[in-house]
Amino acid sequence: MSKKPKKKKRSVVRDPHYLYECSVQSTDPDLDFAEKTFRRRFGRPFRHLREDFCGTAALACTWILRDEANRALGVDLDGPTLAWGREHNVAALGEAEDRLELVQDDVRAVSRPRVDVTMALNFSYWIFTERAALLDYFRTARRGLKPDGMLVLDLFGGTESMMESEESRKIDASVTFDGTRVPGFRYEWEQARYDPITGAFVCHIHFKLRDGTKLRKAFSYEWRFWTLPEIRELLLEAGFEEIEVYTDDWDDFLDDSNGVYRRRKTFDNEGVWVGYLVAFR
Ligand SMILES: C[S@@+](CC[C@H](N)C(=O)[O-])C[C@H]1O[C@@H](n2cnc3c(N)ncnc32)[C@H](O)[C@@H]1O
Repeated sequence: MSKKPKKKKRSVVRDPHYLYECSVQSTDPDLDFAEKTFRRRFGRPFRHLREDFCGTAALACTWILRDEANRALGVDLDGPTLAWGREHNVAALGEAEDRLELVQDDVRAVSRPRVDVTMALNFSYWIFTERAALLDYFRTARRGLKPDGMLVLDLFGGTESMMESEESRKIDASVTFDGTRVPGFRYEWEQARYDPITGAFVCHIHFKLRDGTKLRKAFSYEWRFWTLPEIRELLLEAGFEEIEVYTDDWDDFLDDSNGVYRRRKTFDNEGVWVGYLVAFR
Protein backbone atom coordinates (compact mmCIF):
# COMPACT_ATOMS: atom_id res chain seq x y z
CA MET A 1 0.00 0.00 0.00
CA SER A 2 1.51 3.28 -1.01
CA LYS A 3 1.57 5.97 1.60
CA LYS A 4 -0.12 9.26 0.71
CA PRO A 5 2.52 11.99 0.82
CA LYS A 6 1.94 14.21 3.83
CA LYS A 7 1.01 17.79 3.03
CA LYS A 8 3.92 19.94 4.11
CA LYS A 9 2.95 22.29 6.95
CA ARG A 10 3.37 25.93 6.01
CA SER A 11 5.70 27.62 8.43
CA VAL A 12 4.28 30.59 10.28
CA VAL A 13 5.34 33.04 12.97
CA ARG A 14 2.62 33.54 15.59
CA ASP A 15 4.27 36.07 17.85
CA PRO A 16 2.02 39.19 17.65
CA HIS A 17 4.95 41.56 18.25
CA TYR A 18 6.83 40.29 15.19
CA LEU A 19 3.63 40.46 13.12
CA TYR A 20 2.96 44.00 14.37
CA GLU A 21 6.47 45.21 13.55
CA CYS A 22 6.28 43.71 10.03
CA SER A 23 2.83 45.07 9.17
CA VAL A 24 2.33 48.30 11.10
CA GLN A 25 5.73 49.87 11.60
CA SER A 26 7.85 51.52 8.93
CA THR A 27 10.79 52.66 10.99
CA ASP A 28 13.14 53.60 8.13
CA PRO A 29 10.70 55.88 6.26
CA ASP A 30 9.70 57.48 9.60
CA LEU A 31 13.33 58.16 10.48
CA ASP A 32 14.11 59.41 6.95
CA PHE A 33 11.26 61.89 7.35
CA ALA A 34 12.53 63.09 10.76
CA GLU A 35 16.12 63.46 9.52
CA LYS A 36 15.10 65.42 6.43
CA THR A 37 12.73 67.71 8.34
CA PHE A 38 15.23 68.42 11.14
CA ARG A 39 18.04 69.15 8.68
CA ARG A 40 15.86 71.49 6.65
CA ARG A 41 14.92 73.46 9.77
CA PHE A 42 18.23 73.51 11.68
CA GLY A 43 20.82 72.88 8.95
CA ARG A 44 22.46 69.97 10.75
CA PRO A 45 21.76 66.32 11.60
CA PHE A 46 20.23 65.35 14.93
CA ARG A 47 21.61 62.69 17.23
CA HIS A 48 19.34 62.10 20.22
CA LEU A 49 15.92 60.54 19.55
CA ARG A 50 13.14 59.81 22.02
CA GLU A 51 10.53 57.24 21.06
CA ASP A 52 7.36 57.74 23.09
CA PHE A 53 4.92 54.80 23.48
CA CYS A 54 7.94 52.83 22.26
CA GLY A 55 6.49 49.34 22.85
CA THR A 56 9.20 47.00 21.56
CA ALA A 57 11.47 50.00 20.77
CA ALA A 58 11.83 49.09 17.10
CA LEU A 59 12.19 52.73 16.04
CA ALA A 60 14.77 53.54 18.74
CA CYS A 61 16.83 50.44 17.89
CA THR A 62 16.77 51.26 14.17
CA TRP A 63 17.97 54.77 15.02
CA ILE A 64 20.90 53.41 17.06
CA LEU A 65 22.09 51.31 14.12
CA ARG A 66 21.97 54.22 11.66
CA ASP A 67 25.04 55.98 13.03
CA GLU A 68 27.47 55.29 15.85
CA ALA A 69 26.93 58.84 17.16
CA ASN A 70 23.17 58.25 17.57
CA ARG A 71 21.53 57.87 20.97
CA ALA A 72 17.96 57.00 21.89
CA LEU A 73 15.51 56.97 24.78
CA GLY A 74 12.38 54.83 24.67
CA VAL A 75 9.44 55.31 27.05
CA ASP A 76 6.53 52.91 27.54
CA LEU A 77 4.25 51.91 30.42
CA ASP A 78 4.07 48.22 29.67
CA GLY A 79 6.70 45.97 31.28
CA PRO A 80 6.11 42.78 29.23
CA THR A 81 6.22 44.68 25.90
CA LEU A 82 9.45 46.41 26.91
CA ALA A 83 10.87 43.03 28.00
CA TRP A 84 10.04 41.58 24.54
CA GLY A 85 11.79 44.57 22.95
CA ARG A 86 14.88 44.02 25.15
CA GLU A 87 15.05 40.33 24.26
CA HIS A 88 14.45 40.63 20.50
CA ASN A 89 15.47 44.13 19.41
CA VAL A 90 17.84 45.58 21.99
CA ALA A 91 19.86 42.35 22.28
CA ALA A 92 20.47 42.49 18.51
CA LEU A 93 22.27 45.83 18.96
CA GLY A 94 25.28 44.22 20.67
CA GLU A 95 27.58 46.80 22.23
CA ALA A 96 25.58 49.63 20.65
CA GLU A 97 22.95 48.84 23.31
CA ASP A 98 24.85 51.27 25.60
CA ARG A 99 23.52 54.16 23.52
CA LEU A 100 19.90 53.22 24.22
CA GLU A 101 17.94 53.81 27.42
CA LEU A 102 14.51 52.27 27.98
CA VAL A 103 12.26 53.67 30.70
CA GLN A 104 9.08 52.03 31.98
CA ASP A 105 6.83 54.95 32.83
CA ASP A 106 3.99 57.18 31.70
CA VAL A 107 5.16 59.44 28.88
CA ARG A 108 3.72 62.38 30.87
CA ALA A 109 6.13 61.68 33.73
CA VAL A 110 9.42 61.72 31.78
CA SER A 111 11.06 64.93 30.56
CA ARG A 112 14.75 64.14 30.96
CA PRO A 113 17.21 63.72 29.36
CA ARG A 114 16.33 66.41 26.85
CA VAL A 115 16.47 65.17 23.27
CA ASP A 116 16.59 66.67 19.76
CA VAL A 117 13.58 64.81 18.38
CA THR A 118 10.66 63.00 20.01
CA MET A 119 8.49 60.73 17.87
CA ALA A 120 5.09 59.38 18.96
CA LEU A 121 3.83 57.21 16.12
CA ASN A 122 1.02 54.99 15.02
CA PHE A 123 -1.47 57.33 16.65
CA SER A 124 -0.47 56.16 20.14
CA TYR A 125 -1.18 59.53 21.74
CA TRP A 126 -4.90 58.99 20.89
CA ILE A 127 -4.89 56.94 24.12
CA PHE A 128 -5.42 60.29 25.86
CA THR A 129 -9.17 60.74 25.57
CA GLU A 130 -9.47 63.94 27.59
CA ARG A 131 -8.29 67.33 26.39
CA ALA A 132 -6.44 68.00 29.68
CA ALA A 133 -4.54 64.71 29.43
CA LEU A 134 -3.40 65.34 25.84
CA LEU A 135 -2.37 68.88 26.73
CA ASP A 136 -0.39 67.54 29.69
CA TYR A 137 1.38 65.10 27.35
CA PHE A 138 2.25 67.83 24.83
CA ARG A 139 3.58 70.07 27.63
CA THR A 140 5.80 67.27 28.94
CA ALA A 141 6.98 66.42 25.42
CA ARG A 142 7.95 70.06 24.89
CA ARG A 143 9.82 70.23 28.22
CA GLY A 144 11.76 67.14 27.16
CA LEU A 145 13.14 68.79 24.02
CA LYS A 146 16.37 70.77 23.60
CA PRO A 147 15.87 74.39 22.40
CA ASP A 148 16.37 73.27 18.79
CA GLY A 149 13.98 70.39 19.15
CA MET A 150 10.94 68.96 17.44
CA LEU A 151 8.07 66.60 18.19
CA VAL A 152 6.83 64.37 15.37
CA LEU A 153 3.32 62.89 15.57
CA ASP A 154 1.38 60.98 12.98
CA LEU A 155 -2.35 61.18 12.44
CA PHE A 156 -5.04 60.30 9.98
CA GLY A 157 -8.34 61.75 8.85
CA GLY A 158 -10.62 62.14 5.86
CA THR A 159 -14.29 61.81 4.98
CA GLU A 160 -14.27 58.03 5.52
CA SER A 161 -12.13 57.88 8.63
CA MET A 162 -14.62 58.50 11.46
CA MET A 163 -16.66 55.39 10.92
CA GLU A 164 -16.79 51.64 11.27
CA SER A 165 -14.74 49.94 8.58
CA GLU A 166 -12.41 47.05 7.84
CA GLU A 167 -9.34 46.91 5.70
CA SER A 168 -7.12 43.98 4.85
CA ARG A 169 -3.62 43.94 3.42
CA LYS A 170 -1.24 41.20 2.31
CA ILE A 171 2.12 41.48 4.05
CA ASP A 172 5.10 40.04 2.22
CA ALA A 173 7.64 37.79 3.92
CA SER A 174 10.37 39.76 5.68
CA VAL A 175 13.28 39.46 8.09
CA THR A 176 13.00 41.09 11.51
CA PHE A 177 15.52 43.11 13.47
CA ASP A 178 16.92 39.98 15.17
CA GLY A 179 17.10 38.03 11.91
CA THR A 180 13.87 36.03 12.31
CA ARG A 181 12.25 35.21 8.96
CA VAL A 182 8.54 36.01 9.06
CA PRO A 183 6.59 34.37 6.19
CA GLY A 184 3.87 36.41 4.46
CA PHE A 185 0.52 36.88 6.26
CA ARG A 186 -2.59 39.07 6.18
CA TYR A 187 -3.06 42.13 8.34
CA GLU A 188 -6.57 43.37 9.11
CA TRP A 189 -7.45 46.77 10.54
CA GLU A 190 -10.93 47.06 12.02
CA GLN A 191 -12.49 50.33 13.11
CA ALA A 192 -15.11 48.72 15.34
CA ARG A 193 -16.82 51.76 16.82
CA TYR A 194 -16.83 55.53 16.53
CA ASP A 195 -18.99 57.58 18.86
CA PRO A 196 -19.63 61.06 17.47
CA ILE A 197 -20.57 62.43 20.91
CA THR A 198 -17.37 61.56 22.79
CA GLY A 199 -15.08 60.82 19.84
CA ALA A 200 -14.46 57.36 21.38
CA PHE A 201 -12.84 55.22 18.71
CA VAL A 202 -12.34 51.47 19.18
CA CYS A 203 -10.01 49.66 16.76
CA HIS A 204 -8.55 46.18 16.50
CA ILE A 205 -5.72 44.52 14.62
CA HIS A 206 -6.26 40.93 13.47
CA PHE A 207 -3.71 38.69 11.76
CA LYS A 208 -4.41 35.77 9.43
CA LEU A 209 -1.54 33.33 8.93
CA ARG A 210 -0.71 31.06 5.97
CA ASP A 211 -1.75 27.90 7.85
CA GLY A 212 -5.25 29.29 8.40
CA THR A 213 -4.68 30.46 12.01
CA LYS A 214 -6.48 33.67 12.87
CA LEU A 215 -5.18 35.89 15.64
CA ARG A 216 -8.30 37.96 16.31
CA LYS A 217 -7.88 41.15 18.30
CA ALA A 218 -4.12 40.64 18.54
CA PHE A 219 -4.06 44.33 19.49
CA SER A 220 -7.00 46.52 20.52
CA TYR A 221 -7.17 50.24 21.07
CA GLU A 222 -9.63 52.43 22.91
CA TRP A 223 -8.81 55.83 21.58
CA ARG A 224 -10.33 59.21 20.99
CA PHE A 225 -10.39 60.31 17.38
CA TRP A 226 -8.54 63.63 17.45
CA THR A 227 -8.85 65.90 14.40
CA LEU A 228 -5.95 67.84 12.97
CA PRO A 229 -7.23 71.31 14.05
CA GLU A 230 -7.78 70.08 17.62
CA ILE A 231 -4.26 68.65 17.84
CA ARG A 232 -2.75 71.77 16.30
CA GLU A 233 -4.48 74.02 18.81
CA LEU A 234 -3.39 71.88 21.74
CA LEU A 235 0.23 71.88 20.53
CA LEU A 236 0.19 75.68 20.32
CA GLU A 237 -1.45 75.89 23.76
CA ALA A 238 1.32 73.65 25.12
CA GLY A 239 3.81 76.29 23.98
CA PHE A 240 5.14 74.92 20.68
CA GLU A 241 6.33 77.74 18.46
CA GLU A 242 5.34 76.47 15.04
CA ILE A 243 3.47 73.49 13.64
CA GLU A 244 3.98 72.03 10.18
CA VAL A 245 1.58 69.63 8.47
CA TYR A 246 2.72 66.97 6.00
CA THR A 247 0.35 64.61 4.17
CA ASP A 248 0.93 61.83 1.70
CA ASP A 249 0.23 61.80 -2.05
CA TRP A 250 -2.34 59.37 -3.37
CA ASP A 251 -1.36 57.21 -6.36
CA ASP A 252 -4.50 56.41 -8.39
CA PHE A 253 -2.69 53.65 -10.27
CA LEU A 254 -1.48 51.88 -7.11
CA ASP A 255 -4.70 52.82 -5.28
CA ASP A 256 -2.47 53.52 -2.30
CA SER A 257 -0.29 56.23 -0.82
CA ASN A 258 2.92 56.75 -2.77
CA GLY A 259 4.71 57.30 0.55
CA VAL A 260 5.73 60.86 -0.29
CA TYR A 261 4.87 63.39 2.42
CA ARG A 262 4.65 67.04 1.39
CA ARG A 263 4.28 70.10 3.55
CA ARG A 264 0.79 71.59 3.17
CA LYS A 265 -0.78 74.89 4.08
CA THR A 266 -4.09 73.53 2.81
CA PHE A 267 -5.22 70.39 1.00
CA ASP A 268 -8.34 68.82 -0.51
CA ASN A 269 -9.94 66.33 1.84
CA GLU A 270 -9.92 62.70 0.72
CA GLY A 271 -11.53 59.46 1.85
CA VAL A 272 -8.60 58.67 4.14
CA TRP A 273 -5.32 60.51 4.41
CA VAL A 274 -2.32 59.96 6.65
CA GLY A 275 0.04 62.67 7.78
CA TYR A 276 2.75 63.88 10.13
CA LEU A 277 2.51 66.91 12.40
CA VAL A 278 5.85 68.44 13.31
CA ALA A 279 5.91 70.80 16.29
CA PHE A 280 9.00 72.94 16.84
CA ARG A 281 9.81 73.79 20.43
C1 LIG B 1 0.25 51.33 19.48
S1 LIG B 1 1.54 50.85 20.61
C2 LIG B 1 2.91 51.67 19.85
C3 LIG B 1 3.98 50.72 19.42
C4 LIG B 1 5.06 51.28 18.54
N1 LIG B 1 5.94 52.18 19.25
C5 LIG B 1 4.53 51.95 17.27
O1 LIG B 1 4.87 53.11 17.02
O2 LIG B 1 3.81 51.32 16.51
C6 LIG B 1 1.13 51.84 21.99
C7 LIG B 1 2.04 51.68 23.21
O3 LIG B 1 1.75 52.76 24.11
C8 LIG B 1 1.95 52.29 25.43
N2 LIG B 1 1.27 53.26 26.33
C9 LIG B 1 -0.07 53.46 26.49
N3 LIG B 1 -0.27 54.49 27.33
C10 LIG B 1 0.94 54.97 27.70
C11 LIG B 1 1.39 56.02 28.54
N4 LIG B 1 0.52 56.82 29.16
N5 LIG B 1 2.72 56.23 28.69
C12 LIG B 1 3.61 55.41 28.06
N6 LIG B 1 3.25 54.39 27.25
C13 LIG B 1 1.93 54.17 27.07
C14 LIG B 1 1.42 50.87 25.41
O4 LIG B 1 1.99 50.10 26.46
C15 LIG B 1 1.84 50.41 24.01
O5 LIG B 1 3.07 49.71 24.06
